[in-house]
Amino acid sequence: MDITEALTQSNLEADLRDFEQLLRESVTVHDSFLSDVTRHLIDAGGKRIRPILAITSAHAGNAEVTKDVLMSGIAVELVHLASLYHDDVMDDANTRRNVESVNSRWGNLVAIVAGDYLLAKAAGIAARLGREIAELLADTLADLCAGQILEVQTAYKTSRTIDSYFDAIAGKTASLMATSCRIGALAANLDRDHVEIVTNIGRSLGMVFQIRDDILDLIAPAEVLGKKPAQDLMEGIYTLPVLEALRTPVGPMLKPLLTNNMDDSSIQKALQIILETDGIALSWAKAVEYANSSFESGKTIGSPFAIELGGLANFILDHTLQLVKPYLD
Ligand code: IPE
Ligand code: IPE
Ligand code: MG
Ligand code: MG
Repeated sequence: MDITEALTQSNLEADLRDFEQLLRESVTVHDSFLSDVTRHLIDAGGKRIRPILAITSAHAGNAEVTKDVLMSGIAVELVHLASLYHDDVMDDANTRRNVESVNSRWGNLVAIVAGDYLLAKAAGIAARLGREIAELLADTLADLCAGQILEVQTAYKTSRTIDSYFDAIAGKTASLMATSCRIGALAANLDRDHVEIVTNIGRSLGMVFQIRDDILDLIAPAEVLGKKPAQDLMEGIYTLPVLEALRTPVGPMLKPLLTNNMDDSSIQKALQIILETDGIALSWAKAVEYANSSFESGKTIGSPFAIELGGLANFILDHTLQLVKPYLD
């Protein structure tokens, strides 16, 4: 999925080229081992959604994409990268962005310290962009960690509530998406009303994004995921479709399969039960609700780029529709 297809800013391609160069420069150090580790996932690719949100948010308020705006995009991409390094340790993942994950290649210790290094780089950039941005990034990192910790606390708990699920994803994903829009708007000096609106667009988009990721974990093939399917079930992370399935009449059949030592056969059985319920359809409906809210926010600014920014959540859902469709009726 390439979200730039949904955006018509004429200089976006050039801005993103400049961004890539600055991103690599921001993590290159004399120590070649550390550079290898910090550049590992940058070189593997990734969609760069967060910096694209920062850049597009500046455009949404008809501002220029200055070096500060690009650097604000780097700050959020570095926080995102660090969160992936740490997340793959937490989730015991082997693959990320279709390459071996950092923890798998160099071990947990290196993955954790390199993640910390990326966070330190992000903090330095944010501090140079001013106090408000530095505070924003620090608060966002706190939200992200709180969301991850909330998720850890409910691991392997079939009693996890739907409210707790939404709190966790608001922290671990939507907060950084909201900040990606906000940081671009602040770095571009947009007026306060616009700063608040683009923040809301990013937050709703983040909710859509994580619900979609959680749906895909259950239904998408490994090539689409860039990692093993049903990893969430294995790790005891019971996401919205699973929690919805547990509430249906087949919930009591599903519950005993969800343990901390699932084998391939119990994963397959659990998946079969989940996919026969309306769990995916209900989760999809929730994502559509958030996407609509993102779109409505874009309309309140009204500029063509604000409308495109608000439409990104729908674009992401449209790109997923083909895979999800079999589970919607
Ligand atoms: C992955 O984010 C982590 C989630 C919030 C689900 P992305 O899907 O944006 O990851 P990359 O940067 O494109 O690899
Ligand atoms: C995504 O976590 C959010 C963060 C990385 C903070 P997940 O564990 O749901 O993401 P994937 O599926 O591994 O990308
Ligand atoms: Mg995780
Ligand atoms: Mg993970």
